[in-house]
Amino acid sequence: MTRDPTALRSHRWLGVDDLRSFGHRSRLLQLGYERADFAGKPVIGIFNTWSDINPCHAHFRARVEEVKRGVWQAGGFPLELPAMTLSEPFQKPTTMLYRNFLAMEVEEGIRSYPIDGAVLMGGCDKTGPALLMGALSADVPAIFVPAGPMLRGNWRGRVLGSGSDTWKYWDEKRAGTITEADWREIERGIARSHGTCMTMGTAATMMAVIEAMGFTLPGASSIPAPDANHPRMATESGRRIVAMVWEDLRPSQIATAAAIDNAITVHQAMGGSTNAIIHILALAGRAGIPLDLDRFDEISERAPVLANIRPSGAFLMEDFYYAGGLRALMRALGGLIDPTCMTVTGTAIGAGFGDAEVFDREVIRGLDNPVYPRGGTVILRGNLAPGGAVMKPSAAEPRLLRHRGPALVFDSYGAMKAAIDRDDLEVDADHVLVLRNAGPQGAPGMPEWGMLPIPRKLVQAGVRDMLRLTDARMSGTSYGACILHVAPEAHVGGPLALVRTGDIIGVDVAARRLELAVDEAELARRRAAWVAPAAKLARGYGALFARHVGQASEGCDFDFLAAGAPLPEPEIH
Ligand code: FES
Repeated sequence: MTRDPTALRSHRWLGVDDLRSFGHRSRLLQLGYERADFAGKPVIGIFNTWSDINPCHAHFRARVEEVKRGVWQAGGFPLELPAMTLSEPFQKPTTMLYRNFLAMEVEEGIRSYPIDGAVLMGGCDKTGPALLMGALSADVPAIFVPAGPMLRGNWRGRVLGSGSDTWKYWDEKRAGTITEADWREIERGIARSHGTCMTMGTAATMMAVIEAMGFTLPGASSIPAPDANHPRMATESGRRIVAMVWEDLRPSQIATAAAIDNAITVHQAMGGSTNAIIHILALAGRAGIPLDLDRFDEISERAPVLANIRPSGAFLMEDFYYAGGLRALMRALGGLIDPTCMTVTGTAIGAGFGDAEVFDREVIRGLDNPVYPRGGTVILRGNLAPGGAVMKPSAAEPRLLRHRGPALVFDSYGAMKAAIDRDDLEVDADHVLVLRNAGPQGAPGMPEWGMLPIPRKLVQAGVRDMLRLTDARMSGTSYGACILHVAPEAHVGGPLALVRTGDIIGVDVAARRLELAVDEAELARRRAAWVAPAAKLARGYGALFARHVGQASEGCDFDFLAAGAPLPEPEIH
């Protein structure tokens, strides 16, 4: 213990002798606690994103008790604070619309209550970045408890991966190569335990990124949710957060520029979701660390994909964990990781993986035998995306990495859906499918619409990949030649708004170029005639979101939540 109990934030609520603190204490006694349960102890707020509607966090009802057990063991006082769940499969139009909402909830929850330290329980896609964004802004000691991946899916002895195999078998169904009965069986076998998606989707990516930033216990991010190591990790996290409070080990000491570089390196090495780029930009923004898209490309140029996980590779997260997990991957990255960065353990990150071993070199490859040598995720720029666009070449057919073809433009997802399966749709495999008005402000919320379906007549002809271009995102479990996050988005008048069906679009991944082959004079004419679309949401949170959200290239955070302005302690009278 290095701090005096009177230095705790909670002391102002519970430790002083005045009328207001009498009220606070008497209300805790009303809950059945004794004074000795909380007097002079760190109050640990456990932000639990459990909900009946979130299958990825179904075990959090039990895990929170395991976290509390650790807090009690270490001499802390645990308080569970339910937080918005952001259930990826159910929340529409997209959980991304609510990431900043949860981040605000955590920030304000810490600020307004007597919280000395925070446990952040999340995993399903946006929950991880949202919880950590809030904790970074609040800057009280915080530790992340990742939900962990679910078990492998299974269909007639075949391994099924979340998302990736949904898209794959949906196309097989559309092509008539599997039956309706097969499809029903796949529905029953693809998600067969609690936990997050077990492909390298946004959840697995962000849990790894948050561990690489130093915010989990070593190796925590890849433990399968049903494995007994998972509750042990939860209890240990409860013990550790109490010690962090006494050490006054804050997020601002952990989230440094070098830690962000480690996170980007791990993102590349995992063959991680493109969504993580937006979230890492937002996390850096909250931590006050300058970061732009070019840094991702610089690191991508030197960091190979080593994790052989779908959709870029062949295996699933369960295989990854038993092959050694993230500790082994970070060690395999050698000098590409800065081992000196501080973590929630109070020691350098290198101490957490120094003795890690790879038990299956097919699942976690070495630098001498990568899954993809470099450039797993790349940043493209050009007259069509002056603010940048993102592509994951490792999940695309190589023939499409240098391509020119005519645009087929859709102004909304509904228009695309109505047309894409028509037999008279004029399209061939060289076309570039374009979906616009699906960005942060336009949708609003930037849904995962970016893996546009291949037109049915082409699927039936055997086509499985085409170049696709959008200001939307795509799920990390998706794959294909999809160019995403085009910035500025069409809704605010970005060049994407000016594309017409038939225009030639060219992409050259090696040169990092994305061009619209229309001369500047014609583009100027189209720009002058362009009329800004009306906002879709005129009231409530949606209106606030559309008014304040930044572009994808800036992390899609709200302008009023960036680092800088001080966060005052509340007045207690
Ligand atoms: Fe929750 Fe994929 S749906 S992680």
